[in-house]
Amino acid sequence: MLLEWTMRSLKWSTSHAVFVTEIDDEHKEIFEALVSLQKLLSSRGLSLEIRKQTQRLTACIEAHFAHEERLMRAARYGSLRWHKQQHDNARKRVGQFVLRMEQGETKAGPELLDYLTSWLRYHTRLADRMMGAFLRNQRRGMCKLTFRAGTKPMDACAWVDSNGDTFDPQTNEYGF
Ligand SMILES: [Fe+2]
Ligand SMILES: [Fe+2]
Repeated sequence: MLLEWTMRSLKWSTSHAVFVTEIDDEHKEIFEALVSLQKLLSSRGLSLEIRKQTQRLTACIEAHFAHEERLMRAARYGSLRWHKQQHDNARKRVGQFVLRMEQGETKAGPELLDYLTSWLRYHTRLADRMMGAFLRNQRRGMCKLTFRAGTKPMDACAWVDSNGDTFDPQTNEYGF
């Protein structure tokens, strides 16, 4: 029962969605790496394979955190410090689990999975969602700005008078 719950929790679902495609794709990748590690651990795979998969997982996580932090910095996101603090805590905890795994502690692997499963669940649904909403709003705002700055209405469409004849609104005889 507990194993079933863990397996279900290790899968990315729309309940984890942040609605920023590149972030959601990276989250899916992290969940996939977690599932692969879980399979290796439960089938008592070779320690070399477990080691490689753990490295793959931690590399995915680090690249993802760094990516989110770059996006937040570029967007001048107000809660960057709070968000990064959560990443830093996870970096530290994951590092401790990996060290214990390397020292041969068998329960460190399953503990790493448990920790990351609940951490990701909490972090993606709150901190990452807040960041996603901010990035989406900012991107929408930038689109509007680009549209307003780059396109004059007279360039975007053909003006016609009541007879259906085209005219230039800036130099037309009606004076508007
Ligand atoms: Fe995050
Ligand atoms: Fe994230």
